[in-house]
Amino acid sequence: MAPFPPPPVNTIDWSNVGFRVREVNGHIESHYSVKTATWSPPTFVASPFMRIHGMAPALNYGQQAYEGLKAFRLPGDGAIAVFRPDKNAARLQHSAEFISIPPVPQSLFIDAVKAAVALNAEYVPPHETGAAMYIRPQVYGSSAQLGLSPPDEYTFCVFVLPTGVYHGAHPLRALIMDEFDRAAPNGTGSAKVGGNYAPVLRWSERARGEGYGITLHLDSKRHEEVDEFSTSGFIGVLKEGGGVTLVVPDSRAVIDSVTSDSVQRLAEGFGWRVEKRAIKYAELPSFAEVMAAGTAAALVPIRSITRRVSPSSPQSLGQTAAKQSARVSFNEEGTEETITYIADDDEANAEGGAVFTKLLAQLKGIQLGKIEDKLGWRVEV
Ligand code: COI
Repeated sequence: MAPFPPPPVNTIDWSNVGFRVREVNGHIESHYSVKTATWSPPTFVASPFMRIHGMAPALNYGQQAYEGLKAFRLPGDGAIAVFRPDKNAARLQHSAEFISIPPVPQSLFIDAVKAAVALNAEYVPPHETGAAMYIRPQVYGSSAQLGLSPPDEYTFCVFVLPTGVYHGAHPLRALIMDEFDRAAPNGTGSAKVGGNYAPVLRWSERARGEGYGITLHLDSKRHEEVDEFSTSGFIGVLKEGGGVTLVVPDSRAVIDSVTSDSVQRLAEGFGWRVEKRAIKYAELPSFAEVMAAGTAAALVPIRSITRRVSPSSPQSLGQTAAKQSARVSFNEEGTEETITYIADDDEANAEGGAVFTKLLAQLKGIQLGKIEDKLGWRVEV
């Protein structure tokens, strides 16, 4: 038998993987029958295509949830480890509950993830190229169902593909979405369901065309507090009296980011403070750094946050704030205000602030097996 894991294929330029779909050997599937109330053992399917009835509620009513996690090739013999799959298993159960899908047991989730990685192991990027194997589990209502009731069958599947980091490594300009609310106050905001993502597409595409690499959503009720970025979680950094505090939003409309949770634990290990609480928009100028945290994004520094409001509007920070904080500026037309964390000529922080740099190095070190895994986050395949 050939030794496991196999080396990475030589058909991919591993220094330039990007974030796009690449074909691999296949995916894993398991099916749930309401009649027997059981999930079938996971099986390998040598195709990227799914067999699904056109009247499945996944397609008609959006009865669908998904996950995102990563596997990395470790140093030395090149063993492969998945990062914190138990957290993603729990989050998929949380999401599934919102859309009336029976929970995928944690053991099935982890077995299927490991099998999908193992059976595509030659597509796990080489150690330390900056790329990883992205793992995309999905669960959805798959049998025909016309009425608005749960169907008889569900499908759980796990796709994998090699990717680089989603937003690249350079600081991003963020734009606040005031025209559109990502999730209703008591809605599905904390669930990783497609319905929270598709409606953002037209806004994020428009923002990208205007030079904003990421959009930021405030709470839908009042637009006063920070919820999350369209692709990732929000982390603000306070530097006061020589100490560092990470501040993360306490909101029932945000997804429980595994990456954010991980860097919060790492920050505590450094002796830094972590505060989970409501973050007012008006507080943004007090942060020394801001970053976005997500599986696909990893950690990415935020260069600036822009909001399309006039300085006289009640939602604006106003000229007083601008005078108090060098971070706040207004455009000449008086139609938008920007909070800047890394100015264009800020050479010292051009690739991200000191807190971001230290957290990312520690996170990557653990994921890649270069730093001792004291918290048991790596699960070998
Ligand atoms: C992830 O970070 O894994 C996600 O699912 C976000 C997605 C927009 C790429």
